[in-house]
Amino acid sequence: MNKIITQLEEKRAAARLGGGQKRIDTQHTKGKLSARERIEVLFDEGSFEEWDMFVEHRCVDFGMGETRVPGDGVVTGYGTVNGRPIFVFSQDFTVFGGSLSESHAKKILKVMEKAVQVGAPIIGLNDSGGARIQEGVASLAGYADVFLQNVLASGVIPQISLVMGPCAGGAVYSPAITDFIFMVKDTSYMFVTGPDVVKTVTHETVTQEQLGGAMTHAAKSGVADGAFENDVEALLQLRRLIDFLPLNNKEKPPVIAAVDPADRDDMSLDTLIPDNPNKPYDMKELILKVVDDGDFFEIGEHFAKNMICGFARMEGQTVGIVANQPMVLAGCLDIDSSRKAARFVRFCDCFNIPIITFVDVPGFLPGTDQEYNGIIKHGAKLLFAFAEATVPKVTVITRKAYGGAYDVMSSKHIRGDVNFAWPTAEIAVMGAKGAVEIIFRQDIGDKQKIADRTKEYEANFANPFRAANLGFIDDVIMPHGTRRRVCRSLAMLKSKDIKNPWKKHDNIPL
Ligand code: HXC
Repeated sequence: MNKIITQLEEKRAAARLGGGQKRIDTQHTKGKLSARERIEVLFDEGSFEEWDMFVEHRCVDFGMGETRVPGDGVVTGYGTVNGRPIFVFSQDFTVFGGSLSESHAKKILKVMEKAVQVGAPIIGLNDSGGARIQEGVASLAGYADVFLQNVLASGVIPQISLVMGPCAGGAVYSPAITDFIFMVKDTSYMFVTGPDVVKTVTHETVTQEQLGGAMTHAAKSGVADGAFENDVEALLQLRRLIDFLPLNNKEKPPVIAAVDPADRDDMSLDTLIPDNPNKPYDMKELILKVVDDGDFFEIGEHFAKNMICGFARMEGQTVGIVANQPMVLAGCLDIDSSRKAARFVRFCDCFNIPIITFVDVPGFLPGTDQEYNGIIKHGAKLLFAFAEATVPKVTVITRKAYGGAYDVMSSKHIRGDVNFAWPTAEIAVMGAKGAVEIIFRQDIGDKQKIADRTKEYEANFANPFRAANLGFIDDVIMPHGTRRRVCRSLAMLKSKDIKNPWKKHDNIPL
């Protein structure tokens, strides 16, 4: 008996070494943790249960019959993050470069399927050279099986990808389907075709980092929702994110004991809006002052900065925040900001997370670039996402809410539940100057007349009361009481229950 137990221990020790100490050392030299070290940082101490440690590939081509490594390049199982169950697969670059074989794919599928059955999130830690070249189409089939499972799990459990090494070719499409992609600076990259192919086809010279590094995707393409400095920071931030999320689509968002009083006033908000309506202010200041303890987990911080999205808590309950940022492009809606917020709103709605929307939007960004690239369809995504969302929706207009952008930003008309405006709000078809130049075109040469008309328009329309007269705004509130009013609204909305008409699925303008 003792001998058998010793043998098991030896087998386990061998499996834990993956591709061997030398390759683990190389991983460390690159500034990367090993697959198992990453799991240790991610999960609560001692909570990880590993599955399929002894699974091996079945390939015999190219001498592979003699090179079998227990675990086959991916560590899978489940553990807890602050006591809540989470499934994981962590690709082991020390074993065949973390490449995906048929067996490797089956291991991933096993944890994905179980995660859906028990209703717990799945996290993928990607570090892989892609398809196991020696296995050919069997590997491609494995990828497709994973893609399918990603699609089926979408909207059922949160799926999060943390790209911590190479992720290239068709392999990018598993992370792409998941809810969030995070990357690690300098050590990870994602692209469909690498620099060599790019050089041959388009004659562009780019490095891996320029083509698909963490900041490229976090700031330029928007493919990544965040870029972290190193493996440890990325994994710790992932723990923080998980704390905000429900485990599945049947759960309400988690509630933690709140210390920050719901009726906390913040007098500094009464002077947040500058006297000059064209002067920007930082919307993040408002968010941090309103939410519990100023704790805000931003999604897509470096991309489409004219829109802020992220998770926070109100009275301990997770909420999604969507806000225009007047500091960037005056907070207007464009293609990137519409796409970013639409996807975020849909995530919140999938997982029962109430949405608070802070509005200061002068309209849509004009220009041929926007029109040729389809702002019509992309803007519609955001409109669609807000309109179909059945979660509690509270909206606060701080300053501008002009034109179509007013409608889009979770207005009453698309089922905003509680819509507030600050006294500084200007809810109108357009700004006074533009409006007067159109209505009084014949007087355009008469400066005094135009100035008078502009003043008149401002007095009549550059305020929240026209909208409040019509019941489109539920109340005009004091800025300092925003937290109190939003907390009360959310508490009232806790039992909200509305359903959209039956359909197989909708047809959002993709
Ligand atoms: C099998 C692989 C592998 C792969 C790497 N290795 N990629 N084995 N299949 N795809 C092995 C190497 O042979 C090596 O083994 C070890 O992993 C580490 O690789 P190195 O090249 O030494 O590491 P590094 O210099 O860091 O380079 C990493 C790399 C490079 C950039 C990922 O290995 C690479 O270019 N690999 C091939 C990538 C690729 O073309 N994959 C297929 C893409 S198509 P030893 O024994 O020496 O340690 C694809 C399609 C997916 O993925 C389709 C889905 C639909």
